[in-house]
Amino acid sequence: MGRLVALSLLGIALALLGERFLALRNRLKASREVESIDLPNCHLIKGIETGSEDIDILPNGLAFFSVGLKYPGFHSFAPDKPGGILIMDLNDENLRALELRISRGFNLASFNPHGISTIDSDDTVYLFVVNHPEFKSTVEIFKFEEEDNSLLHLKTIQHELLPSVNDIIAVGPAHFYATNDHYFSDPFLKYLEVYVNLHWTNVVYYSPNEVKVVAEGFDSANGINISPDKYIYVADALAHEIHVLEKHPNMNLTQLKVLKLDTVVDNLSIDPSSGDILIGCHPNAQKLLIYDPNNPPSSEVLRIQNILLEKPTVTTVYANNGSVLQGSTVASVYERKLLIGTLYHRALYCEL
Ligand SMILES: *[C@@H]1O[C@H](CO)[C@@H](O)[C@H](O)[C@H]1NC(C)=O
Ligand SMILES: *[C@@H]1O[C@H](CO)[C@@H](O)[C@H](O)[C@H]1NC(C)=O
Repeated sequence: MGRLVALSLLGIALALLGERFLALRNRLKASREVESIDLPNCHLIKGIETGSEDIDILPNGLAFFSVGLKYPGFHSFAPDKPGGILIMDLNDENLRALELRISRGFNLASFNPHGISTIDSDDTVYLFVVNHPEFKSTVEIFKFEEEDNSLLHLKTIQHELLPSVNDIIAVGPAHFYATNDHYFSDPFLKYLEVYVNLHWTNVVYYSPNEVKVVAEGFDSANGINISPDKYIYVADALAHEIHVLEKHPNMNLTQLKVLKLDTVVDNLSIDPSSGDILIGCHPNAQKLLIYDPNNPPSSEVLRIQNILLEKPTVTTVYANNGSVLQGSTVASVYERKLLIGTLYHRALYCEL
């Protein structure tokens, strides 16, 4: 009898795991392919060969790139090289990316930058960087010193409510919203929570006086950004959703709407001239995990206009099967210039 119960339980467990496995293939968009959509005057940016996970552009056209992310489960073309921060002035005739020098005392050997965000507060530019030294999760705040292209490290933030930070949006000199893409910080538990699909990931508000969870229940909360007025946009990568949340004076968020898409949504940026949302997407994210140079991950950039209307307009701005650009994570725009970053491949410049 005992053996029969054990066998039935085993059968149920296996059926459940099988169902979760098929669901995971769908959440990773395992079999979707893209039709190429090209833009004029595209070229790869010199000096970026090992990923440019995140890109943020200041209102004056200075673009910041986080490069060299190492993340468990993902390929890297330079596994032993520390990450860094590059800048590129989009007003220059000859575009080239320069690595920023980082002040002494900051541990460069373990620098593993992920999401970044810039904020100009009282004429000082602060750069917030999600960092994963030894696969931990910290937020580093730097002051950007334009005279000599360097970053002065101001502080490291680590908090129990920030166990696995993915992206960040600065809202003050030491104030930000951040997404946790996992609930756990242990690599095995992270893997398990994604597999079982716990929906335990969240958005946290951090300030020196108060740290709180302000939105939760995401499959895998990823990119986050803020509109010029009062909306916060969150990409739920594996649920293929963009959430629109309203920000209140006490910094709490309430959900306004959810837009469902047919792709794994990574990072979001706002086109400053139109307020449109640009999303770096993974149309077939499964290929990111099992890297095969002959069958590389695709890239896809979507534009969303009027997200608050009942039927927002969603257009594909750029798509490529990986022959040019593999695994796009972010697209950011300045005037008619578009920059597309990737998880571990190159970065592309195009004109719109
Ligand atoms: C996503 O993009 C925005 C704006 O370009 C940036 O501030 C943010 O840190 C990025 N995050 C990630 C994880 O790529
Ligand atoms: C990608 O598309 C190009 C042409 O657009 C084609 O030559 C190439 O074989 C395709 N690669 C894959 C891996 O499908």
